[in-house]
Amino acid sequence: MSPGAKVLLIEDDAGIAETLERVLADEGHEVTVKRHGDEGLACASTGAVNVVVTDLRLPGLNGLELTRRLRAAQPRLPVILITAFGTTDTAIEATKFGAYDYLLKPFAIPQLLELVRKAAESNRLMSEPVDLGARGIARDALIGRSEVMQAIYKEIGRVASKPVNVLIRGETGTGKELIARALYHHSDRAAAPFIAVNCAAIPEPLLESELFGHERGAFTGAEARRIGRFEQADHGTLFLDEIGDMTPSTQVKLVRVLQEQCLQRVGGRESVPVDVRVIAATHRDLEAAIGQKQFREDLFYRLSVVVITLPPLRSRREDIPELVRYFLQKHGPALGSAEPSIRPEAVEFLQEQAWPGNVRQLENVVRKIVLSTQGYTISAEHARAALQQAGGANFSPAGPFGDYIEQLIAAARRGEAADVHARVIDVAERELFSRAIREAGGNQAKAARWLGVSRITMKAKLVQLGLHRGRDHESIAP
Ligand SMILES: Nc1ncnc2c1ncn2[C@@H]1O[C@H](COP(=O)(O)OP(=O)(O)OP(=O)(O)O)[C@@H](O)[C@H]1O
Ligand SMILES: [Mg+2]
Repeated sequence: MSPGAKVLLIEDDAGIAETLERVLADEGHEVTVKRHGDEGLACASTGAVNVVVTDLRLPGLNGLELTRRLRAAQPRLPVILITAFGTTDTAIEATKFGAYDYLLKPFAIPQLLELVRKAAESNRLMSEPVDLGARGIARDALIGRSEVMQAIYKEIGRVASKPVNVLIRGETGTGKELIARALYHHSDRAAAPFIAVNCAAIPEPLLESELFGHERGAFTGAEARRIGRFEQADHGTLFLDEIGDMTPSTQVKLVRVLQEQCLQRVGGRESVPVDVRVIAATHRDLEAAIGQKQFREDLFYRLSVVVITLPPLRSRREDIPELVRYFLQKHGPALGSAEPSIRPEAVEFLQEQAWPGNVRQLENVVRKIVLSTQGYTISAEHARAALQQAGGANFSPAGPFGDYIEQLIAAARRGEAADVHARVIDVAERELFSRAIREAGGNQAKAARWLGVSRITMKAKLVQLGLHRGRDHESIAP
């Protein structure tokens, strides 16, 4: 999904340079090679570079000095240092004053590619400003002028430059990451780094070291000291995405760092002061997680000095036409139709859908539509087909359940049905909970996780719907 980055490779060994250039180019990156430290610095200073990969030992300016100077001039440009055995300590020190990461020779190519991908993403997050309430333009923008969204823009304006942590809540795909970036860009830390860590994507034992770093020998495999993302984000902003997925033991450490504004690396005793603004995001119900002792209350209060809650797309349908136009403009050219036009019925059709995947799902469907229409005017039929192709059959109010709703509404119109809302919700919930608990073999915790509800909610619903047969692990007949 992410397009290639502009990578500056600084390496004096012609053989290595050639190999690395090729693998990076194969990955879709645009690579410029420089042999000399000074040439590298000059090239990076043009501003047309997203990621620097540099050897530590170079003729002219060495990699360390290069990193130091780049950090001063362009704090948002990630630098990856490649170091030979014996120079590790220097490289580690380098990460302290700004190198994004380092690689020890010999390294596997996929390792390099993964680091470059992450660094490019980090650069993208930092350097592409997010416009608030913009009207269709090509770069990243927060689209939507519904009242709820306008209130959110105002809130961003109010809190962006205050030295407070912010918690962003909202269902999947509602734009939490975009809001985090908007906060960063409008803060007085916008010139300092913005570092994102996805807590759900990093397995538990690694997350602590990723965040706080570790000392040499802290655990098996910790051959050298590592500087964590907290220290790297010093004076800047740390975006802790999917915070609800952080395990309690890491939460304890995080609370301490937020309280004391200093950290200890894993396996270390030294107290390292850090000045970091934390923006956290989650789609989880943290209050429920607190109730189940899965999330620490003290951490919740530390993180949620300011809370921004993003509405689901279905509750701001008036923004859908503008979002559709924005995504058509954003993706049309790359997908082969410069200015796709769309019929009003197609927009209306999209406006009526449930969008459980919110803006991300809408964006995907618009992309599919553009691909399938190839420049022809988009009709409601195109939209329907793309939605279905995107797995939308379950999402759209079509099919038997849709029919049921239609009949009920028709009956209500004739005055033959009452409590339509309660009846539909009851049917939907009964179906959802009974299926989930059956599929989970009666395991309520598992079923709750699948549905994204707390175990308390799960249990309460089973009781309420008459599906509860006593103990937790008993299987439940539908
Ligand atoms: N208001 C908006 N205007 C324009 N694009 C948006 C808006 N909200 C979300 N998007 C786009 O939708 C996609 C999903 O947004 P984002 O990644 O910020 O969601 P998220 O809430 O972090 O989702 P998840 O919980 O799944 O991580 C992105 O491509 C983003 O650019
Ligand atoms: Mg996200």
